[in-house]
Amino acid sequence: MHVTASPTAAAATPRAPAGPWLRPETVGVESRAAFPTRPFAVRHELVGHPLLTVEGILGLVERVPAKHVDWHPADVDLDLVGRPPKPPADPRQLVREIETAKAWLGLDKVQADPEVRELAHAFLRQALAALPERVGSMHRVEANFFVSSPGARKPVHMDPEHNFLLQVRGTKTVHLWDVAHKDIVPETLLEAFVTTDDWAGLPVSRGEREPDFSFHLEPGTGLYFPPFWPHAVENGTDQASISASFTFHSDHSRRDETIRQMNAKLRRLGLSPRPPGASRWADRLKRGVMATGRGLKNLVR
Ligand SMILES: [Fe+2]
Repeated sequence: MHVTASPTAAAATPRAPAGPWLRPETVGVESRAAFPTRPFAVRHELVGHPLLTVEGILGLVERVPAKHVDWHPADVDLDLVGRPPKPPADPRQLVREIETAKAWLGLDKVQADPEVRELAHAFLRQALAALPERVGSMHRVEANFFVSSPGARKPVHMDPEHNFLLQVRGTKTVHLWDVAHKDIVPETLLEAFVTTDDWAGLPVSRGEREPDFSFHLEPGTGLYFPPFWPHAVENGTDQASISASFTFHSDHSRRDETIRQMNAKLRRLGLSPRPPGASRWADRLKRGVMATGRGLKNLVR
């Protein structure tokens, strides 16, 4: 019998599977103990999700504003300080030819897209439900998708959020340095970061300091890492990589950011303020002052 698919069925876009994206039984005791102060590996169910294929990424590149699409050459030095170069290119072509384009391409903060937003929130809800309640509420959920050529590298940098980096295609190795190393991540640098978003001076060189952790990621695996941990990424050389990063701020990370913003002000006055966590009463006082300052600012607006 000859069967033809109906035109409606043929034209339909593939429906995204419903999840779950992270099964709680895959989160072990060690991972639960590590959250949120140390990185740990996770398993996920995002392989094959229609948003996380070359076609899915291409569709996203075409519908998000151009400012959300970033790229750089694949062969940057992992120890590069500052932002990598962004040579003129058509990002759609880079994605289409990613196997040979020798490029790294990122879709930054694309959570305004309804499908991406739903996926990011669903994943993070499921992940946090599987972990101990140690960070309070989740704020500012963001989603970043990366597609990159075999062997592509992302130089050392840091981000202010809790991060789940999830590998969907190809492989990569993620190197991480503990934010507690004050010789490579001094408090003054963290204070500059939370007040100006400036990480250009991050003094980490792989030659000088071996990473504290190196995770090898394959499709179906991923990684949680805490805010501000310096990290660098290098792809496997066999095929192009696709990965997703779902990030969030928390009551916990916001508290530290507020204290560091206050510390930056105190340091400008010539004082040597104590870092977050060193003194409970000092932390409380600084947060109170910052909250009052913000309240006053709102009043005079
Ligand atoms: Fe990052």
